[in-house]
Order: sequence, then C-alpha cells, then structure tokens
Amino acid sequence: MARTILIVDDEPDMLVLLKRSLEPDLDCVVKTAPSGEAALQMLSKAPVDLVLADIKMARMDGLELLGLIRQNHPETTVMMMTAYGSIDIAVSAMKQGAYDFITKPFDHDALILRLEKALERSTLLQENIRLKKACKRVEGLENIVGKSPAMQRVYETIRMVAKTDVTVLITGESGTGKELTARAVHRLSPRAGKSFVAVNCPTVPEHILESELFGYRKGAFTHATQNRIGLFQEAHGGTIFLDEIGDVSPAMQTKLLRVLQEKEIKPLGHTRAITVDVRIIASTNQDLRQKIKKGEFRDDFFYRLNVLPILLPRLRERKEDIPLLADHLLEKHCTKLSKPKKQISQELMEIFLEREWEGNIRELENIIIQGILFSGEETVMPGDVGLKPAGPKSGGLAEDTLVLPYKEAKEETLRRFNRAYIGHLLMESRGNVTQAAKMCGLERQSLQQVMRRYGIRSDDYRE
Ligand SMILES: Nc1ncnc2c1ncn2[C@@H]1O[C@H](COP(=O)(O)OP(=O)(O)OP(=O)(O)O)[C@@H](O)[C@H]1O
Ligand SMILES: [Mg+2]
Repeated sequence: MARTILIVDDEPDMLVLLKRSLEPDLDCVVKTAPSGEAALQMLSKAPVDLVLADIKMARMDGLELLGLIRQNHPETTVMMMTAYGSIDIAVSAMKQGAYDFITKPFDHDALILRLEKALERSTLLQENIRLKKACKRVEGLENIVGKSPAMQRVYETIRMVAKTDVTVLITGESGTGKELTARAVHRLSPRAGKSFVAVNCPTVPEHILESELFGYRKGAFTHATQNRIGLFQEAHGGTIFLDEIGDVSPAMQTKLLRVLQEKEIKPLGHTRAITVDVRIIASTNQDLRQKIKKGEFRDDFFYRLNVLPILLPRLRERKEDIPLLADHLLEKHCTKLSKPKKQISQELMEIFLEREWEGNIRELENIIIQGILFSGEETVMPGDVGLKPAGPKSGGLAEDTLVLPYKEAKEETLRRFNRAYIGHLLMESRGNVTQAAKMCGLERQSLQQVMRRYGIRSDDYRE
C-alpha cells in the first residue's frame, strides 16, 4: 500500500511546492492541509503514515496541533518544520513527542532523507502495534468470561497445559464451556498456527466414525469410490478435539488407544500405518470412572486420556460470574443479531442468581438470545424470557419442583440442596472432605455417605 504524508502549512505556495517536489522522490501520496483544524479533520477520516507540520501558523499553531495529534492519533509520526532561528521551539516540540524537525529553508535531498527515516520509523511503529494486537488475540483466554476463584484455577490450568504437548481431558456438565476451553488450549499452544479439528463423537454414527477419523483407501468398502484423508491427518501438526469421548464404543476406544500409544493411524484398506503428529484434547460430560466400573469404558484408555485433566465448574458453583457472563453474552448476541445493545433488568438478574442452571452457560446463553429477540424494550424483563420470580408462594422452592408429586419434589429439593450446600463446602476446602465435614459439623463418614448418595465427588473440587 502506498504510504501517505500529510503536510500542514498555512502558506499555500509552500504546500504546492512541497507536494510537487516530494511526490516523485518519495514514492508516496502527499496530502496537504492549509490549517491545523483541516489536518485534524483529515486525520479523523483516514490515518496517514507521517505528518509534516509547520510550527508557526495563524490560529492553531504547530505545537497545539502536535498535542492534539499525540492525543487522538498516538500511532502517527509527526515531524515539524521551523524557520531558521527558532530552534528552542523545535526542541520543545521534540519534548512534546515530535519525532524530528527540519529548519527552513531546506535542502531538498536532506529533507527527502529525513522524511524517509521518519517514514521508516512509522512503518516499524505500525508493525509493532499490529503484532501487539495479534499477540493479544492469541492470548486466547479473553473470550472466556469469569473472575471467580473456580475460573481462575481453570485459567491457570489452561495456561499450564497449553505449554505441554500431552493429552488433555476436559470434564464438565453440558454447557460449561468444554469446547471453548479446548480451543483456548490450542490457541495458547505452540500448535496455534496449525489446524484445530473438532469431532463431535456422538453425532457421527459409529461405523462412519472410524473412516472419518482415520480415512480410507479407494475400494476399502462398498461406497469408498476414492481415497479419503481422515481427520487425524487433517489435524497433522495441530490439535484434534474429540468431543464427548464418553459416548464412543469400547471397540473405538481400543482403536483410539492405539493412536495415543503409537502416534500412528491406519486408514481403512491400508496395510501400512501412517505416523501423525497430533495433540489430542478430549471432553466428556459423563463420569468416566463410573463408566469404567460398569465396564463401559476402558480404564487404560481413560488413564491415557486423563494425563492432564481440566474440570470445569458448574455455573451454580460460580454464581458470582453470572452478571459478567450475562453482560458478555448480551453484547455478543446483540452484535451477532444486529440489534441495539440491551440490558438485563434487576428482576431478571435476581432470578438468574437464584436459578439452578442445569444447562449451565449454554442455558444462560439461550435465555439471553430469547431476551434479545422477544423484549420490545431496551431492558429485558423476566416475562420476555418466560421466567417468573420465585415469589413468596413457593417458599424459596424452585418452581419446577412444585409441580412434582410429594416424594419426588422432596427428593429433588434435597438433591439440589445437598449438591449446592456440600458443593460450596468442598469448594471452600478445595476438595478436602475432612475439612468440609468439620466446617458443617458432620462426621466425615456421614458426609461421605451423603456425597455418595448424590454423586458428589471431592475430586471435582481438587486443584
Ligand atoms: N466462560 C465462558 N465465557 C463466555 N462464554 C462461555 C463460557 N463458557 C461457555 N460459554 C459459551 O457457552 C456456550 C457453550 O459452551 P461450549 O460449547 O464450549 O460448552 P460445552 O461444555 O462444550 O457444551 P455442550 O455440553 O452443550 O457441548 C458457547 O456459546 C460458549 O461460547
Ligand atoms: Mg460441547
């Protein structure tokens, strides 16, 4: 792209002269402005690579213009022109952030040389800014929202595992951000420049999954009319994300275990194995240890996957993040749906803070999208998203339990109470059951009994 210089001087003859003499020798576009005000107006419309401004001008002088450019367009390089004998003013311009100055009348070649140098500096500066922005983008965590201690621990783990090349297993309930986390690990890893291939295991029928992952050779089976490269090969050099790994059959687990051990794949119909360099990240919303006990999941495969686990907290365990998340999702989807920015009413936020969030952030996201689409006003009210305040009638019980038969309502309420109450204790004690028992005045064994009954695992709360 052609570089651009903006010359600012209140002497029209000078502008014409400079434009005519500089343009052929500098290989850049020369724009001119007859005053500081005009220059600022031009800069606000389109940035330039370099401003060359006279210091002595009627109305807004060069120093004032310099100050305003520094303030509003700090990435712009500014050079000053001054009459012979006013070096002191030129020096003070340098102190205020001008890059260089040149005294009039000037020698053409000297001026070209100084301008070239200033343009070079401007290119470097812009490159620097661009790189800084790019680095910020690959920081990778900025689209994950949450300040709670539980999320701080997640960020720490993500940063730590991203540096290594080992297999990661991300565990979390549905909608807790497993895929978002997997992408962040990839973005922060040395493999960031290569592909990230996501495979949603349960949505691909078992007999197709194998050929999808490993590829096949023409003629390997009836419909294999040509060679096909598998997803593992597509991810070569990068990362493959095996989403919901708990759903793959033991036969498939065996094949994947082989890939983990040997780092090679065998496309269907091929006799030779192909070496692949792929980092594997898997996710699950199931309790794989439980599945191992039931004989549905290979324990050797589990231990290979679970080298570095990341446990994502449930939304109800980090309620303090709800306002932040709601704001983030509101802004994200208002932009996506091209709607003006809306806000959540106090009443709705109170309901959000009370809710169980079985569907976690995905559920919150769906409600926010409904709110954006259905609220006529700038503020989203509970009614817009079909929610009602818990109100005194329900006595603090969740609305959805009130419609259940007595026994079930009681069991469900107890389950929620125990999960919230004990979950909180374990969060505080970082998974230490003895300490949690002390905190609530129960015997360790009794607490363990309740935990077993409601499927609460202290492991989920350990670091
Ligand atoms: N911490 C977070 N900050 C911002 N957005 C989030 C966060 N966690 C999840 N989300 C958003 O919530 C939605 C669900 O996240 P994601 O798909 O990563 O979760 P998941 O655990 O894979 O869910 P599922 O079990 O439904 O597949 C996505 O739109 C994601 O961008
Ligand atoms: Mg997912």
